[in-house]
Amino acid sequence: INLDILKQRVQFTRTKRRLPQVIIIGVRKGGTRALLEFLNVHPMVQKSSVEVHFFDNDAKHSLGLEWYRRQMPFSFPEQITIEKSPSYFITDKVPERIHEMNSSIKLLLIVRDPVTRLISDYSQLAANKAKKGKILPSFKELVLNRDGQVNVNYRAVKISMYSIYLKKWLKVFSRHQILVVNGDQLIRDPFIELQQIEDFLGLKHRIKRENFYYNKTKGFFCVQNNTLNKCLNESKGRKHPEISPRLLSRLRRFYVPYNKEFYRAVGRSFGWPE
Ligand code: A3P
Repeated sequence: INLDILKQRVQFTRTKRRLPQVIIIGVRKGGTRALLEFLNVHPMVQKSSVEVHFFDNDAKHSLGLEWYRRQMPFSFPEQITIEKSPSYFITDKVPERIHEMNSSIKLLLIVRDPVTRLISDYSQLAANKAKKGKILPSFKELVLNRDGQVNVNYRAVKISMYSIYLKKWLKVFSRHQILVVNGDQLIRDPFIELQQIEDFLGLKHRIKRENFYYNKTKGFFCVQNNTLNKCLNESKGRKHPEISPRLLSRLRRFYVPYNKEFYRAVGRSFGWPE
């Protein structure tokens, strides 16, 4: 008998589906997929590949924790299970619901420059429309009101007002339970961000600089190790529409108070205008 196989078999009996000890709560278009895939390079991490939406969808939530657990991947006891659903961040009731499941859970929030995130969000909405053979109104039409004011009722504008949502999370969770990841930095140099995340999650530094390589055609970093070599698919790293400098500076100004408030709550700056 090949003892190696036997050993694997013995270990295999120790695997089961477990509730996540870590959740990536958002933000939409912040780089949530890249964060999950990069973290998954760590041997002690098991990811749920699909977005489960257990906490933000009432129908799913009513199915109960046992249903949620069954959506999770198989893991060894010493591994961490991780899930990501970007709309958790902006949905009422989610902080309380997660807290109810596990009050000492660790949360990852990945954010990006709010204006870039807004444009990224618009690009995704436009792409989804295009798939159905329809055309989304122009960026300017959607983000500005008729009187030229920024349209805070437009969902994509609102989602970039991070401080509004973060406040709700900090009413339920302690600041130490939430690691805010810099999505702009994750694009530029994923390795640096990943090291901080390993520390936050209490993981040994097993993700190496060699696990990342820049793919010129893609224009982004991809991951590789002995068993995997992966760039994110074409829905990640879309071409953004050209926005006039005037509209850009209008939007930058608009987000200043929210950025300031966000920096204050997080306890550090992210380099966006304040
Ligand atoms: P764009 O497509 O607008 O460039 P999410 O996964 O939360 O939807 O975020 C998508 C964003 O992740 C992309 O937005 C892209 O900028 C960013 N991203 C970060 N690292 C990436 C990587 N290595 N490959 C592709 N996209 C990455």
